[in-house]
Amino acid sequence: MTLRVDVLTLFPDAVTQYATTSVLGRAMERQVWELHVHDFRDATSDVHRTVDDTPFGGGAGMVLRAEPILQTLDDHPEIARPLIALTPSGRRFTHAVAKELSALNGFALLCGRYEGFDERVVDLVVDDEISIGDYVLAGGELAALCVIESVVRLLPGALGNDESSVDETFSEGLLEYPHYTKPAEVRGLGVPEILRSGDHARIERWRRAQALHRTVARRADLIEQRGGLSDIDIAVMAEFPLLEGNGHTG
Ligand code: ADE
Repeated sequence: MTLRVDVLTLFPDAVTQYATTSVLGRAMERQVWELHVHDFRDATSDVHRTVDDTPFGGGAGMVLRAEPILQTLDDHPEIARPLIALTPSGRRFTHAVAKELSALNGFALLCGRYEGFDERVVDLVVDDEISIGDYVLAGGELAALCVIESVVRLLPGALGNDESSVDETFSEGLLEYPHYTKPAEVRGLGVPEILRSGDHARIERWRRAQALHRTVARRADLIEQRGGLSDIDIAVMAEFPLLEGNGHTG
């Protein structure tokens, strides 16, 4: 089944360009997903093609007008739902939300600009509001692309190897263990000996220990979310102490 994604934006080329590159582009060629980009400036009816106006009540900045967005939806009844607006005041986007969206047949993303959109767009047509983090972007396009990329790579057939999206950061609530590739020495730094030992059971325990150490050092909130460390976690961390050389882990 092909996931349908619609994007409503004032910068269709920026969205299309990124979404047809690399992993997303290949997944699109394989019909894992399809993209329909709608420029809501096309749905304006005035000669200046105005998409924004000053806020009622005064204040700085411009607000996106409701009508071009509503008209785009009227003109294209095929646009997938739910319609999700990207805004810093939405619910926080996480791996769990990406998984939720990857189970749908499709969804549409509404990218704001300026100070956001007329609230009546939210009242009339928006089903959900998502923020990718506590910072303010100039528009929703980058956020939409973050959502798209993290959702599409979860779909079967999106990545070359179906395994590779499973055993990684966040799927288990832990940060990922460190990776190494050839050569065995880089500017005087080697590779942990165990990774060259061929002992796969030990390597697996070592990787788990490193993931746990990292998560404890950098993201204690994730450990708390999992309900703390289990006896097995503590044992494996004791068996393989913190990897040295990762100075920035603190
Ligand atoms: N638009 C502007 N800032 C945003 C953010 N942090 N998340 C989603 N959409 C946004």
